Formats: sequence, C-alpha cells, structure tokens
Amino acid sequence: MFFLYVSNWKVINIAIDGYSSCGKSTLAKQLAQELHYTYIDTGAMYRAVALYVTRNNIHIENNPDLSALINALNDIVIDFRNNTQSNKREVYLNGESVESFIRDPKIAAIASQISQIRQVRDKLQQWQKKIAQKKGVVMDGRDIATVVMPDAELKIFMTANAEIRAMRRYNELLGAGKNITLEEVKQEQALRDYQDTHRTEDPLVQHPKARILDNSLLTTEAQLALAMKWVQEVMQVST
Ligand code: DC
Repeated sequence: MFFLYVSNWKVINIAIDGYSSCGKSTLAKQLAQELHYTYIDTGAMYRAVALYVTRNNIHIENNPDLSALINALNDIVIDFRNNTQSNKREVYLNGESVESFIRDPKIAAIASQISQIRQVRDKLQQWQKKIAQKKGVVMDGRDIATVVMPDAELKIFMTANAEIRAMRRYNELLGAGKNITLEEVKQEQALRDYQDTHRTEDPLVQHPKARILDNSLLTTEAQLALAMKWVQEVMQVST
C-alpha cells in the first residue's frame, strides 16, 4: 500500500525497542516488507544462545559458569536465512533452523538471564553492528537505539498495556500448542520486564529521540500506517 513512494527514498536504518510481547517483531517485519529492508530479530539471537546453553548443560542460574559460556560463544554461529521448507526467514544456530525451539517460555527465561552477561552482549552486538553498516535494516530488541544503532534515522520505542500484552502472548502460546495458564504468562512477563529494565548491562530504556508507539488499542494495520508516516517524516528531514 505504501510501495509507490518507496523507490526514490534514501536507505535508512530503523531501530525498534520495547518490552517483551508488545508486537515489536510484527511491526519490524511489516516495515521490512514494505521497504524491502532486512529484518533482524535480535531477541532470536539471545534465544539461540540460550538454546545452545540448555542443550550443552552450561550452568546459568545463580553463579553462572562464565568460562564454559565464553568458550561456547566461540563455537556459536547465528544467522538468518530463508528456510526452503517453511519458506520463511528463520534463525539458524550452527547451520540448523532453531525457530521451532526458541519460542518456548523456558528458553525465553534463559535468554533473559544470559542477556545480562556482558560477554554475551558484546558478541551479539558485534554481529548486529556489522549487519547495520549495510543500511536498509529494521532491527528490534532492547538496546537497539541506545547501543547497537544509535545513528538509526528512525527510533521507535514500543509499549502496550501489560494485561493486553499477556493476553496476546497467552493466545500465541495456546495457538502453538503450549500447555500454559494466563497467570503463568503474566508472571513470566513481569519477571522478564523487571530483568530487562533493571539489569546493569544495557538495560531497556527509551532513547531520548525515540518515538513512542503504544499499540494497546491499535490494529497491526494502524500501527504500520503510523510507523510509515514516521518513515516519511524522517526521510524528508534526512534527504
Ligand atoms: O525479544 P525477545 O523476547 O525475543 O528477547 C528475548 C530476551 O533477550 C529478552 O528477555 C531480553 C534479551 N534481549 C536483549 O537483552 N537485548 C536485545 N537486543 C534483544 C533481546
């Protein structure tokens, strides 16, 4: 619907940060599709590391085994590719598509823990910054505007009412066949929000220049329209 305008536009980077389950990846994918940009789901990268840690029995909770974790980081290669079977862009861990394993709430909880460790962040941020150099990137996460792409022409901070977020996540998990209660989803979400905003290493904070997008009451079409309006505004300023 916005494609006609896009061809003459300057290529920019778009940083999207926000709480868990507030629709960051939905918006990021929509924008990448509209603009023909590359979408990078940085949460999936932390989740892939969490999966590796789980599979290799590396101790993380209370007093994590840092030397094992640092060694593991040297053995991990993460990339995003089109899966020819599902015909979707998926995250790969050492050549294996791990998309179907990393959305599990247990992996999310471990991802939140390992994302507090400086060495993990350094490694993933190094990859993310390299990707961003190419431009034409929509990246979502917790530290994208503040650390990974501080020069992104458009910075969006997404938020939504906690009850609404929990309900959306609960429905998503039910749809994926997970056996979980709404109360469990709420507790897990509250813990992750706390950890993501209170950790010492690159906590989730709103960049002063970020535009706030509260999508509690917005449809996905309305949120895309608003974000595309911002894209146009930014293009006008930066051309
Ligand atoms: O966005 P997500 O729920 O897939 O992210 C999983 C965890 O990874 C989240 O709890 C915090 C962490 N994360 C991070 O610290 N920095 C990012 N840029 C992305 C995710």
